[in-house]
Amino acid sequence: MEEARAVRPEELGQTLALVNKVFRTGVDQDMSTDYPLVFAPNNLDNLRVVSEGGRIFSHAAMARRELREHGCALPVSLICAVATDPERRRRGAASRIMEDAVEAMAARGDAFGLLWTGPARDFYRRLGWEVVGSNGWAYLVDPQLAGRFEQPLPVRPIQVETDLERIIEIHEDQPRRLTRTPAEYRTLAGLPKSEVWVAEEKGRVEGYLVVARAYNKSGVTEWGGTSRALSSLLARVLPEPAGERMQVFVPLPDNPMTELLTGRGCHTRIPMEVADGCGLKMVRILSLANLLRRLAPCLTSRLAGCAGRVSLSVQETGEHVDLRWDGDNVEVGSDRCTSREDSAQELSLRQAARLVFGPDKPSQILDLSREAARGLDRAFPFGFHIWMLDYV
Ligand SMILES: CC(C)(COP(=O)(O)OP(=O)(O)OC[C@H]1O[C@@H](n2cnc3c(N)ncnc32)[C@H](O)[C@@H]1OP(=O)(O)O)[C@@H](O)C(=O)NCCC(=O)NCCS
Repeated sequence: MEEARAVRPEELGQTLALVNKVFRTGVDQDMSTDYPLVFAPNNLDNLRVVSEGGRIFSHAAMARRELREHGCALPVSLICAVATDPERRRRGAASRIMEDAVEAMAARGDAFGLLWTGPARDFYRRLGWEVVGSNGWAYLVDPQLAGRFEQPLPVRPIQVETDLERIIEIHEDQPRRLTRTPAEYRTLAGLPKSEVWVAEEKGRVEGYLVVARAYNKSGVTEWGGTSRALSSLLARVLPEPAGERMQVFVPLPDNPMTELLTGRGCHTRIPMEVADGCGLKMVRILSLANLLRRLAPCLTSRLAGCAGRVSLSVQETGEHVDLRWDGDNVEVGSDRCTSREDSAQELSLRQAARLVFGPDKPSQILDLSREAARGLDRAFPFGFHIWMLDYV
């Protein structure tokens, strides 16, 4: 078996045949059109494969994005389409690719790696990945409730050429999102089995909603705009297809869609992780110090007015991190040490992921001094939301 490497342009067809065999057998969809930003010609370096005798039999893709949340800008890589040919499994190929991906993400300074999985949670846990706090709620909305949503604004399908700029403006007003180029917005607006609707007032788009009925994405995968616009959009899309409850995805923190749904009597909700097409959200910390430095704007505001210090030592990597907070200042010191400093609190990569991203409070994970627990429980967890439209 060869080392993991980037796919060559002439091998793209073979790679897609592998991932379609593993993920799309019996499904009338194709991985290259379901995830056009992942399998794009400019992303070939991020499609990692293992082959033998010229035949590719294992694959994992990375898609690099920037996450904006709580005033922080975090470069992250989303991992997608991890697959080994069924006849060549349990020979270490996928593990080898995942280790190669972790090295690549660390080398380019990503804050963390992110993926969603159902069946392969334990495969990833062996490699230092951990399930973290929830991504949001899926409200399950009965089509019969459509009549409860007023429709003050006219609703129509998107006209990409004229509407896209305004949709970008609305989305970029959101406090939490992945950044996208205009070309990426355009591609996501045209995903298969997915429609974008807009609501207008006096010729100006006041809101939009994306509704998907695909194997990998089902329900209202993104929305934005005023409450009047969202109400009009829901009234238009809810009644079809008859009889089925529609998943409407929302972030955990307060937001206008949750307010609108609960205000109209829609209270049935499940964590996104157990909704159709979602999966568990897993994170791999690459460098704890790099991550904490990138979280500094959020940590500084959450720790304002208090002082403390904690030393952490990551078991698998030997990374030593010293986090100090004092008034308006947060400092992250670090080094790689071979011998453990006595005062440092040891933790595994998986514990580090839960410490930062939850769902628990840090004091439920580590045996901390009172001062450290007080500070860390205030600073974490750092919850974040990825819109379903961006899922890979
Ligand atoms: C998950 C998958 C990619 C693993 O590929 P692979 O090349 O066989 O992986 P490795 O040989 O590196 O496996 C390493 C270890 O993980 C374990 N493992 C593999 N798949 C696992 C799973 N689904 N759950 C738990 N452990 C798993 C293996 O048992 C192996 O350990 P062992 O040989 O000591 O028992 C492969 O099983 C696959 O293609 N599955 C279907 C697609 C899928 O679910 N992908 C993940 C979607 S997010």
